[in-house]
Amino acid sequence: MLEIKRPVSSPLSPEQVSAIREAVARHKAVKGGLLPALHAVQGLCGNWLPMEALQLVSQGMDIPYPYLYGVISFYTMFSPTPRGKYLIRMCESPPCHIWGAEDLLEGLQAELGIKVGETTRDGLFTLEPTACLGVCEVSPAMQINEVVFGRLTPERLKNIIADYRAGKTVDYRTLPRTTNPLSDYPVSGDELVLLANVDRIDPLSLDAYLEQGGYEALKKALAMSQEEVVNTVKDSGLRGRGGAGFPTGLKWSFTLPNPNFPKYIVCNADEGEPGTIKDRYLMEGDPHRVLEGMAIAGYAVGASGGYIYVRGEYYLSMDRLRKAIEDATARNLLGDNILGSGFSFHIQVQTGGGSYVCGEETGLIESIEGKRGNPRIKPPFPGVVGVWNKPTIVNNVESLASVPSIVMHGSEWYKSKGTEDARGTKIFQVVGHVHKPCIVEANLGMTVRQLIDKYGGGVREGHKYKACQTGGSSFGFFLDEQLDTPMEYKAMAMAEGALGSGTMLVMDDTTCVVDVVKSILYFFQHESCGFCLPCRRGTRVLYELISKVAAGRGARADLDRMISLSQIMVDSSNCALGMSPYFFIKTTIERFADEYQAHLDGKCPLGVCKAKEHSP
Ligand SMILES: Cc1cc2nc3c(=O)[nH]c(=O)nc-3n(C[C@H](O)[C@H](O)[C@H](O)COP(=O)(O)O)c2cc1C
Ligand code: SF4
Ligand code: FES
Repeated sequence: MLEIKRPVSSPLSPEQVSAIREAVARHKAVKGGLLPALHAVQGLCGNWLPMEALQLVSQGMDIPYPYLYGVISFYTMFSPTPRGKYLIRMCESPPCHIWGAEDLLEGLQAELGIKVGETTRDGLFTLEPTACLGVCEVSPAMQINEVVFGRLTPERLKNIIADYRAGKTVDYRTLPRTTNPLSDYPVSGDELVLLANVDRIDPLSLDAYLEQGGYEALKKALAMSQEEVVNTVKDSGLRGRGGAGFPTGLKWSFTLPNPNFPKYIVCNADEGEPGTIKDRYLMEGDPHRVLEGMAIAGYAVGASGGYIYVRGEYYLSMDRLRKAIEDATARNLLGDNILGSGFSFHIQVQTGGGSYVCGEETGLIESIEGKRGNPRIKPPFPGVVGVWNKPTIVNNVESLASVPSIVMHGSEWYKSKGTEDARGTKIFQVVGHVHKPCIVEANLGMTVRQLIDKYGGGVREGHKYKACQTGGSSFGFFLDEQLDTPMEYKAMAMAEGALGSGTMLVMDDTTCVVDVVKSILYFFQHESCGFCLPCRRGTRVLYELISKVAAGRGARADLDRMISLSQIMVDSSNCALGMSPYFFIKTTIERFADEYQAHLDGKCPLGVCKAKEHSP
């Protein structure tokens, strides 16, 4: 839950006023322009939104001031109170937490002489904690304005701050990518479907993409009937890669016959799930593949408009997508009457504002419309009532990026990869205490153990495996005895884990499971949008209970309450965020019973748990 901050007044210069008026007018002309306008205005005001600027936005966009305040207070990237020239956002989500983010944050506060939420006296730095930045392969990480810094150590932190103090800053636009190139990671040997071009061709060059056969699948699709395209994707067995695993072609088939126009394709590039970094690699490394997948989806269901909703922290991804859209439109591969086919499809990049729940498809739709990202009550589902109340397909970046190859090579080709229960290839992320945190594309069906050992290089040297949280922050923990579970939907669910977004967070023997569960519950109580009581109150109570247990003040009844409360939340929450805690609470209490018992007996066996709570 976010803090309520009182907007601060700060007179604007005449130049600022006219620049703000111009930005507001430009964004007002575009449907859903509020969030982009707020980003632009915040940029003009030096990282924050003074009251005077908010009033100009309110007047210029005809949005009542209280409504506007409601919107900005929902998103962590907007601030109505002053910030320094450099905004430091230190990640404290579980993958960074287990690499010592909490201690680093303490060290950074000492180095800067401020507490979190404060600004240095010279107005240079503001320090804010943040949820996952989407760069967990280089945890622990932070972002200073647009630039990401990973693999932080106390010494590296000091050096970075010293550089910024000396005016030695980095321009993210000059970086080849946000983090490591793909060549840093092991390859599976399986045919690459998704990552084939990433870091192999120039992502800014449409010609380079065309040379690899780019947009041939779109041409092929345009020569097929819409039903044929939908059926090809349906037969391929592709299931959504955003976490829920819903069959992609089936989703499309519901919307195709809907006579309500216009229809929309929304590409979900919010990627807020801690440990998940794959969509960023696709957008930074092969943006045209994502756009081509969207255009094919648009043709298949009869959509004329597309939004790609990118989390606000992914600056490089947004730049590259915008350039790719511009280039593809100039060659008539997007836009009006594509290649003379009669099919028109326009794509717009929409920027998020720093909210995990906006990854939920209906929260995302609200956010595109310039509102707080509260998930809607379903049904109706987006396929019937989506963006601007029109039929909308929401698909994950990786799902859509899989589509061109499926159309090009056919459903049988795709089906031959993976297993009967989980078709095709998938991008996996192995993060945490492995020798080499990595991203790898491989056929579905390998075991979790293979993934950790073969690609992650096993647990880091000198340590033993302890646990693995599967699929993202919402799912179960595996002991060693569950590691031979194949990466398939049914098998993972049977073992009370999940394929989810394909993330495996590995923890070694230095990790206290109770401390990690506390970190995850902190994340959920912070990200709960507050719309429904079971989640708003439940996540908070769960965090209070685990904090009590971690501090050695808990009782068996607290663990029982955590299980029963999280079960109630599964049954009564409005969206899957509120349903998430049950799975990792249950599996950890059952599978790490001794460790919980030690905390109930008053001590953390590893001496990791601290009595204090997270920063606000
Ligand atoms: C709290 C929450 C966060 C989510 N975040 C994402 C996300 O960042 N990216 C994503 O593709 N799906 C996310 N999802 C799942 C979406 O609601 C939706 O199922 C997905 O975008 C559908 O695309 P797919 O079928 O291609 O997977 C999230 C769901 C919830 C409940
Ligand atoms: S379950 Fe949580 S995140 Fe989802 S709508 Fe309810 S309060 Fe919001
Ligand atoms: S970048 Fe810190 S958890 Fe992902």
